[in-house]
Amino acid sequence: MDSIAILDFGSQYAQIIARRVREAQVYCELFPWDAPMEKILSIAPKGFILSGGPKSVYEEDAPYIQEFIFKTGLPILGICYGMQALTHALGGQVDPSAQREFGPAEITPLISGTMLDVISKVWMSHGDRITKMPDGFIALAQSNNSPFAAMGDMKRKYFGVQFHPEVNHTPNGGKLLQHFVVDICGVKPNWNPESIIEESISRIRKQVGSERVLAAVSGGVDSSVAAALVHKAIGDQLVAVFVDTGLLRKNEGEQVASAFRDHLRSELITVDASDEFLSALKGVTEPEQKRKIVGEKFIRVFEAQAKQLGQPKFLVQGTIYPDVVESSAPDRNKAEKIKTHHNVGGLPEDMQFELVEPLRYLFKDEVRAVGEALGLPESLVWRQPFPGPGLTVRCLGEVTRERVSRLRAADAILIEELSKEGLLGSRSSSSLIASPLGTAGRTMATSQAFVVLLPVRSVGVMGDQRTYQEAAAIRAVTTEDFMTADWARLPHDLLARASNRIVNEVDGINRVVYDITSKPPATIEWE
Ligand code: XMP
Repeated sequence: MDSIAILDFGSQYAQIIARRVREAQVYCELFPWDAPMEKILSIAPKGFILSGGPKSVYEEDAPYIQEFIFKTGLPILGICYGMQALTHALGGQVDPSAQREFGPAEITPLISGTMLDVISKVWMSHGDRITKMPDGFIALAQSNNSPFAAMGDMKRKYFGVQFHPEVNHTPNGGKLLQHFVVDICGVKPNWNPESIIEESISRIRKQVGSERVLAAVSGGVDSSVAAALVHKAIGDQLVAVFVDTGLLRKNEGEQVASAFRDHLRSELITVDASDEFLSALKGVTEPEQKRKIVGEKFIRVFEAQAKQLGQPKFLVQGTIYPDVVESSAPDRNKAEKIKTHHNVGGLPEDMQFELVEPLRYLFKDEVRAVGEALGLPESLVWRQPFPGPGLTVRCLGEVTRERVSRLRAADAILIEELSKEGLLGSRSSSSLIASPLGTAGRTMATSQAFVVLLPVRSVGVMGDQRTYQEAAAIRAVTTEDFMTADWARLPHDLLARASNRIVNEVDGINRVVYDITSKPPATIEWE
């Protein structure tokens, strides 16, 4: 498969560049800028994209373009720092701007027929700028602040843009990247769900041969699509197990079972372990401890199940590309650690399984597109993220069967009201990455919305009766990457309906509040 190598110079946006390229149906992989030559060239790229980055080219330890990149003779597109690094390497001049330029700007293309044709509004974020282009380059666009907002050497097919075509705030930026990878690098755009599935199937078959393969299905998108892919590849050699922890959302267990039974025609073994989980959680209120208990319990239950099934050799894991991609952005690495900590509910490393990871090179939206192409129901494929430890995370205080069912009922009401208005999206969260692979997003929909049950009781009045019951909080956010998030400006009427129904229909809740904190400083989940 033709591919593009994206070199990460420490940008916050490196993964977004990769997603944009994948949206153009071109396979690409991300590498830290200093990754070894063999590694980068192992994907046989047909061109390079250099990301932005926080440094200045003259700083000590500033990242640079490794020599072998130029020796390949392949096209290069430098974005922001990438453009400056290109300029610096080829003998041009980079200087600090009088003023840091951050935010929206306008550029004017200087000649027609280039990839800049479709661009006028752009997003800038840089301190340095190019003051002299290297030999062979011409200016392709200018902005108020910079005579070389974009430049190119048509002969060598080297290009640089000062702005960020990958972000949402640069309309048509994706087209620019598409033009580069398809028209300039000459990559055939054939990275689509069908080719992804085809390739995965042959890879899975080669890996597992005639061995049996076990999959733990959690109800989440990743584990379901991973299992579905493996089932498509090896049919009944797959044994899928769904552990019902008693900590799931309403109807979740049934939905997963029916997806496997009716849509995939695959057997799914459901283990009802809710008693075990709930008794282990008895009396525990400390959030980290709750997570730990659920994680450990999950492992024990799963181990017992694997044993009962004769200990298959292989285990499916729904690891996706953002979990494995190495990055040079310092914040990204930090983010990765937060996530590891989150990954309670994962399986222990010392389990005697060889892993099958069919989603290892896919972004979330690609996972969804593959899920749809495999025939999984939309309700499963497009569901919002749900934490591994389940409703424990959203049931503050002690997790009892009664409180979990209270929370589950309230949550189901909110979800129902949101979906009636078409505001329950995870499609929308991909507005940034509105993918030709998936279906276009709706505006304004929540990226994640749920109810949190608080261990706080307050006085209310219902039908002339004084009540003293718990409070529920509605949490609804919009976000592009779940690293930062804003609270959703949900219509007041909808909030009123949800609140009213929750208090009337759910026993034990007499007050509903709406969480209006962004992340940071808050997190999405309460815990
Ligand atoms: P926070 O609360 O940190 O959450 O803003 C960010 C995103 O991560 C999800 N989350 C989890 N996902 N296992 C997961 O797979 C977990 O333990 C976990 N905890 C939080 C959360 O729902 C949100 O989408």
